[in-house]
Amino acid sequence: MRDLVTLSHIEGGIALITIANPPVNALSRELLEQLGRRIEEAAAAPGCRALVLCAAGRTFVCGADITQLDQPITAANDAFNPVMDLIESLPKPVVCAMHGMALGGGLELAMACHYRIAHAQTRMGLPEVTLGILPGAGGTQRLPRLAGAKAALDMISTGRMIDADTALALGLIDGLTAQSDAAQAGLEHARHILEQGLPPRPTRGLAVDSGGLDAEALKQALDTAGRNTTHPAARAIVECIQAAITLPFSQGRELEGRLFEACRASDTSAALRHLFFAEREAAKLPGIPSSLQRRPIHHIGVIGAGTMGRGIIMNFLDAGISSVLVDANRDALENGVAQIRKTYESRVARGRISAARSEAALALLAPSLDYADLGQCDLVIEAVFEDMDVKTAVCRQLGMICKPGAIIASNTSTLDVDALARASGRPGDFLGMHFFSPAHVMRLLEIVRGRGTLPEVLATVNALAKTLRKVSVISGVCYGFIGNRMLESYLRETDFLLMEGATPRQIDQAIEEAGLAMGPCRMLDMAGIDVAAKVLLEQGKAGIRPSDPAYRAVVGRLFERGRLGQKNHLGYYRYEGRDAIEDPEVAMLCEALARQHGIARRDHISNSEIFERCLFPLINEGCRILEEGIAYRTGDIDIVWTKGYGFPDHRGGPLFMADRIGLPTILERLAHYSRAQGNEHGYWTPADLLAAHAASGRPLSQWQAPAPTHEPA
Ligand code: 3HC
Repeated sequence: MRDLVTLSHIEGGIALITIANPPVNALSRELLEQLGRRIEEAAAAPGCRALVLCAAGRTFVCGADITQLDQPITAANDAFNPVMDLIESLPKPVVCAMHGMALGGGLELAMACHYRIAHAQTRMGLPEVTLGILPGAGGTQRLPRLAGAKAALDMISTGRMIDADTALALGLIDGLTAQSDAAQAGLEHARHILEQGLPPRPTRGLAVDSGGLDAEALKQALDTAGRNTTHPAARAIVECIQAAITLPFSQGRELEGRLFEACRASDTSAALRHLFFAEREAAKLPGIPSSLQRRPIHHIGVIGAGTMGRGIIMNFLDAGISSVLVDANRDALENGVAQIRKTYESRVARGRISAARSEAALALLAPSLDYADLGQCDLVIEAVFEDMDVKTAVCRQLGMICKPGAIIASNTSTLDVDALARASGRPGDFLGMHFFSPAHVMRLLEIVRGRGTLPEVLATVNALAKTLRKVSVISGVCYGFIGNRMLESYLRETDFLLMEGATPRQIDQAIEEAGLAMGPCRMLDMAGIDVAAKVLLEQGKAGIRPSDPAYRAVVGRLFERGRLGQKNHLGYYRYEGRDAIEDPEVAMLCEALARQHGIARRDHISNSEIFERCLFPLINEGCRILEEGIAYRTGDIDIVWTKGYGFPDHRGGPLFMADRIGLPTILERLAHYSRAQGNEHGYWTPADLLAAHAASGRPLSQWQAPAPTHEPA
């Protein structure tokens, strides 16, 4: 077995124990077992007077090994607490020296030691809640004893990291060090402890300072957290903090163990753990070696000073990359720059960034009316109006202006990236970069790989996404890529349900009750009915709109009536301020459309029908996207929907949810709606992949893509 923990004896009776499990020193069961043995050996060594615990590499320990959290953790097989107890009960002082990050089980390990120091840049936190669990290695009981119950509740319920200065002020650590070598820093501190004659200081023996968290405040916290029915860890965390205040350590930790296991076994935690790994997998490019040389990106350009262009360029300014913003229209350019300035001012006013940082970002921005100023850019992203003719002309021009080796990207959300690549005359250098609005806030970036995109271009933009702090997912070329293509069937059924007699409010409520951030009617009103109608028009032009005359008829009619959505206070709803109010005119319009298209009206449509009709075809389309090789993995689709479309994290994304619902059930309901609605246009035909997995009993998560080829066509 690999050595994950080493022990070296140092002069002066100090034993050094080093954890080495790259990349983040996660605490696996094997590691904990070795750690226990090394500690026992060290403590038993003749002449040992103190122990130092540290970790090798770029960081201290960043938590339990999440891959092992699929197995139950019970009192009988708990690998964590026995090691923590062993350390805490040693009759010799144990010093923990942290650097990089100390997270989750890593911080819990540090808290079980008697003394703690940290490099000044260290960040510490208990982020378990983001995985739907709570600290399960004594963290809920030891942190209140070190930092006070109020600070502990805040840190554990939010999962927020704190810096070393804050940790020192809270009493979580005993000292800061500028020494970059954690082992040396730890040894120095251990010598100091021995010189001072300081004894072991078990954390469990410290009193809890409630920090003002009285019975009333705890009751309120329990009530608030208890309302969060989708996230069982929220209430469990408060219960554990309450136990830390009111019960002896051993009882508090016994409760922590039980609640940890209940949360770990929950669907929410399974979903959040799935998303944790899916996000990291999505950044990997199958078939492209990570050693492939990437192109340098030091200077970029964005065309179009509208909402998208502004949002996109701010990502680069934030990342310290100099950027040219080009718009041929002087007013649009001036307005764009003013809006960017305003956004930075507002961030400063809200204390999000310093004035100096804002000025530094703005100093990187060069506005221009002249396309020729894009000639020296390493990457140019067009963000002009979503119209094939307009975008084709811009891409053609970029092909002529950009320097050799520059990457050219389109921010189109639906259009044919291969056609735009051909227009540029440089398909190897071309790809899609689909940002989501507001582009400086939304973390998702769909990177669209054209048939001709060179692997190095894909690898360059994928790496750039990390620099921009985006979550990237690669999509092949098809109408709408991954996200908007799946959205199409969801919006199709929304309009059909309205014509059959459901109301916008009923549909939105059913979808929001399922956990999506916003129902489809409110979402379309916010995005703009004109934008949706324009997409339909482009689909018609491209010959990819179904021949069904009733297809998305409501949105088309709303647009004809001049109802553009929130922007003119009339859309699926009527708006008074931000309040969406049902409008009888829309109900009449839907009824008239139903008559026109021969759609039967019903008095009652259930919420479960709304859920199934909107979401099962969306899942079905996701399966087609996998079959066609548009997405590399099921997790990629889940990331697109959770990061870009408000799909609830606790459901893990549409395909993770499909496995939980059961593929045979989904298949059966598609067949049911095919019978009930008719299937003239193939709306209810199941994807082969869905049918095959339902028949074989294999979940979608086990789907393996054939190895992709990256030979440019
Ligand atoms: N367990 C297993 N693998 C982990 C891991 C963990 N705790 N933390 C990170 N990794 C893996 C990642 O999957 C990734 O693997 P890959 O290279 O094969 O894709 C690799 O380590 C590097 O991770 P990142 O790409 O995320 O590296 P970054 O430098 O961007 O981020 C980080 C580092 C901030 C530590 C981030 O990885 C992170 O947030 N990790 C999870 C921290 C966490 O939640 N800890 C609590 C775990 S639960 C726990 O401790 C329970 C306890 O209370 C009993």
